[in-house]
Amino acid sequence: MKILVVNGANLNMLGTREPHIYGTNSLSELESNLLACASEKGVQLDFFQSNSEGEIINKIHGAYGNADAIIINAGAYSHYSYAIRDALSAVAIPAVEVHISNVYKREEFRHNSVIAPVCCGTITGLGMYGYVAALNYLCDNTKI
Ligand code: DQA
Repeated sequence: MKILVVNGANLNMLGTREPHIYGTNSLSELESNLLACASEKGVQLDFFQSNSEGEIINKIHGAYGNADAIIINAGAYSHYSYAIRDALSAVAIPAVEVHISNVYKREEFRHNSVIAPVCCGTITGLGMYGYVAALNYLCDNTKI
């Protein structure tokens, strides 16, 4: 099983960026932790981070025929990128949306995700564990 893990805008700044909201772990620490969980399960991960909407869309398109599932934290794009939503919809690969912070405890503009309707589900507010939960869900529930 191959899972594409997409992190969008500003998530390269994890560890430095608002640590009271996003914690002190860097993106590479998040990726190493997830990789350890994935290798226990015999799952292959492809990590991708970009601040550019178009690059994220191209990466999602490239997952067609190459990945069995997607874990995506699109950052602020989650709240308004119909283009990323359409890309997920176009490839029709089972996807789980993750947010590190609890978006419902924050500003109102974060309460809506335009990509949520094309994902199996959304995990929000569980910190980096949200990615592990998404991995577990996809391994246990995705028929490949
Ligand atoms: C985020 C929440 C978004 O509202 C924000 O724009 C981010 C990170 C999260 O992981 O909590 O960049 O997706």
